[in-house]
Amino acid sequence: MPRVRVHQHVNPLAPFYRFAPPPLEVENVFANPQSPLFLDIGSGRGRFLLKMAEIEPERNFLGVEIREPLVVEANRLAGEYNLTNLHYEFCNASFALDEFLKNLPANHLQTVTIQFSDPWYKNKHAKRRMVTGDLVATIIEHLGISGEIFVQTDVDFLAEEMFAILRANASLNEIEIAENPFPVKTEREKSVEERSLPIYRRLFKKNSDLKS
Ligand SMILES: C[S@@+](CC[C@H](N)C(=O)[O-])C[C@H]1O[C@@H](n2cnc3c(N)ncnc32)[C@H](O)[C@@H]1O
Repeated sequence: MPRVRVHQHVNPLAPFYRFAPPPLEVENVFANPQSPLFLDIGSGRGRFLLKMAEIEPERNFLGVEIREPLVVEANRLAGEYNLTNLHYEFCNASFALDEFLKNLPANHLQTVTIQFSDPWYKNKHAKRRMVTGDLVATIIEHLGISGEIFVQTDVDFLAEEMFAILRANASLNEIEIAENPFPVKTEREKSVEERSLPIYRRLFKKNSDLKS
């Protein structure tokens, strides 16, 4: 099966990407809508979630991705594998995540991952980076009690920037982790590890006294 060809990067601030998909209705996309939800933001080709959904049928997995052809192909694969606990959505997380998640049942979203988000190296492109205070606030708003946010990247300055933004939010506690807590590696993670380059990872947990 040839890989779907796509632009390497797209500008999340471009007018074309200022749209919101219809709000997620879990009962329309998952066979067991009451199962806890795992959200991967910037899911790329979606292979991480595909494997996770196979290994952990008791959870629902949702990928949001700004490059639509990848979403179409990932949903096609999920269908081919008969995975009814997996769905991908064409969504610009920087613009529309709040609207997309607004109908989620309370305490439903258990885990959020942001893995190897595009670094947008140049200062003049810094506004295109995914992890901002606003995005973190949106995630926390929808995250269930004691929900978790896991982030990882191989870009040192982006790691420091992301960790500082997450630490600055008083609703989160940082948890020490020695390694990736998940049994599956993303495509980018595998390629970085093959080159023996460092990966910077952190886990943050929502304060248990906050409601979802
Ligand atoms: C470097 S890739 C990593 C893909 C995958 N997470 C992995 O680790 O292999 C970053 C992904 O985030 C997506 N992305 C970037 N900005 C986004 C945004 N604002 N909303 C949704 N997806 C975004 C990109 O299109 C790309 O697929």
